[in-house]
Amino acid sequence: MDYLKTYQIPVIGIKRTLKGIDLEELETLFKKYDIKFFYTMPRLHNPLGTSFSKKEKDDIRKLAYKYNVYIVEDDYLADFDQNTKNDPIFTDDTEGHVIYLKSFSKIMFPGLRIGLAILPNAFIDSFQKHKNTTDIDSSMISQAALELYLKSGMFERYQKKVSESYTIRANILQQSIKTYLPKYQASTESCMHSHIVLPREVNTNLLIQHLAQQDIYLDTIDRNYLNGFYRERILKLNVSNVADQKIEVGIKGVAHALSNPNNYF
Ligand SMILES: Cc1ncc(COP(=O)(O)O)c(C=O)c1O
Repeated sequence: MDYLKTYQIPVIGIKRTLKGIDLEELETLFKKYDIKFFYTMPRLHNPLGTSFSKKEKDDIRKLAYKYNVYIVEDDYLADFDQNTKNDPIFTDDTEGHVIYLKSFSKIMFPGLRIGLAILPNAFIDSFQKHKNTTDIDSSMISQAALELYLKSGMFERYQKKVSESYTIRANILQQSIKTYLPKYQASTESCMHSHIVLPREVNTNLLIQHLAQQDIYLDTIDRNYLNGFYRERILKLNVSNVADQKIEVGIKGVAHALSNPNNYF
């Protein structure tokens, strides 16, 4: 998002909610505009915490073929999906129209600065050229360290351990939302972040400020949305850095604040 804003790249947004995206609207956009690529997070979307169904992924892929649009598939939480049968769009791409991105930031640590891109053959040379002009090459030391990690089997063991600990947090979050915020629409998928849909009258910034005074820190969603396009009225609930025993307390605090209108009108 920051990249698009910094380089003022022309971009069109499409509304995504708990129900997914409107595929007819996507088709209209593909038909009407000269779109080079469609960027999407099919798995555990940030900030919604929702995933596309197999049918939605197939439909998006078919639209991309029909209108010759490339899909940039950001699978940044691939290592954390509890449903191992959940394949990315890339798996079924028979026409070289998917650019698949995976990050190691969440499963290892962000400072490693390693991710991977699987490119359609037609793009490999120009991608390489652009990458060379940007940073010559990715850090050899980081790549060598990751290679050692992968080859020795340590990555697999660590991945299991880390994803299990995130799963525990995700499940506590999901359960706490069900218990303390039952009347709010929320994602039912277990993910380290989720959201609730806020009523119109809630001033989200005031609510966030009020909660911060009680040591419950929530981020606004401003950085997740394009300027000038539709925004969901949501409260993003992220527990990736929250100790297990604090999650329920935090969600209880959010519920308490929401039940007291003086806090946010
Ligand atoms: C949507 C999305 N994609 C990718 C990433 C990972 O980015 P990077 O690998 O550059 O750290 C994140 C990190 O939070 C993210 O939210």
